[in-house]
Amino acid sequence: MIQSLDYIGFSSPGFAEWLSFGPEVLGMQVASRGADGTVRLRVDDADHRLTIHPGDEHALEYLGWGVRTPEALAEVAGRVRDQGIAVHEGDRELAGERGVAGLAWFVDPFGNRHELSWGQHRHPGSFRPGRAMAGGGFVTGSQGLGHAVLVVPDLAEANAFFTGVLGFKLSDRIVDPPLNAQFYHVNGRHHSLAIAEVPGASGFQHLMVEVASLDDVGIAYDLCEERDVPVVLTLGRHTNDRTTSFYLYTPGGFHLEYGHGGVVVDDALWEPATYTSTKIWGHRGTKHRDVLPFAIFNQPKESA
Ligand SMILES: [Fe+2]
Repeated sequence: MIQSLDYIGFSSPGFAEWLSFGPEVLGMQVASRGADGTVRLRVDDADHRLTIHPGDEHALEYLGWGVRTPEALAEVAGRVRDQGIAVHEGDRELAGERGVAGLAWFVDPFGNRHELSWGQHRHPGSFRPGRAMAGGGFVTGSQGLGHAVLVVPDLAEANAFFTGVLGFKLSDRIVDPPLNAQFYHVNGRHHSLAIAEVPGASGFQHLMVEVASLDDVGIAYDLCEERDVPVVLTLGRHTNDRTTSFYLYTPGGFHLEYGHGGVVVDDALWEPATYTSTKIWGHRGTKHRDVLPFAIFNQPKESA
């Protein structure tokens, strides 16, 4: 059983910009760097959760899903193998780079690399935000890093994979043509994963991180204005997870939602709803949204 989105990795020609952008705008903490210059960022006491590798193009490299134990990892890996998908064991070197005790990885039918890991390295009492944060930091813990949104070519096929094979639970749907999206939880966070259908395409749309105070959303908004960081959706509030947030375009070529106040799902009582809009108010597209790429679209990945 997958417990949470524990980490995520991208590659980008803009990787080095994250050394200042991550801490000074987002409030993240720069962790140890990779030998090749890889920038690792922290949002809590976990060793690191967001990694930007050097690369010629913007790309999602991996989604890191946490499981509790090696036995749980083997169980999920077995279900993936039953689909005829190759699952690869990560060696000690890779586990060390990811800051986990052990991992295995596979490529989903849509070209995204997923890593299943356990035993994330944590250093209690060590997190220091990269800038002053009104609420002290990010909402993580059992809710993990945040949420990831993927573009998939076929919603029904992707739903079958993520629920039937990986065990994600449906939180709700938003159908607002042309948007057709489904949201999934694996812990109290309203969604750790969402998928949006774009026929003929697959890729990564946005990463969401949640901060402990609404003031930190506003402070980040001000900083984006001051530094000419492109805001793609203005401040607004979502219908489904009730997050108050805005969306910005990062130096990694992916969109990031920076928000506060998401609802917590109680699985015993939760009933998935269908919404006909993403927003209660706000979240208006800006001039940047019209010209910047909507997603990082996948190139075929090596799966052997
Ligand atoms: Fe989001």
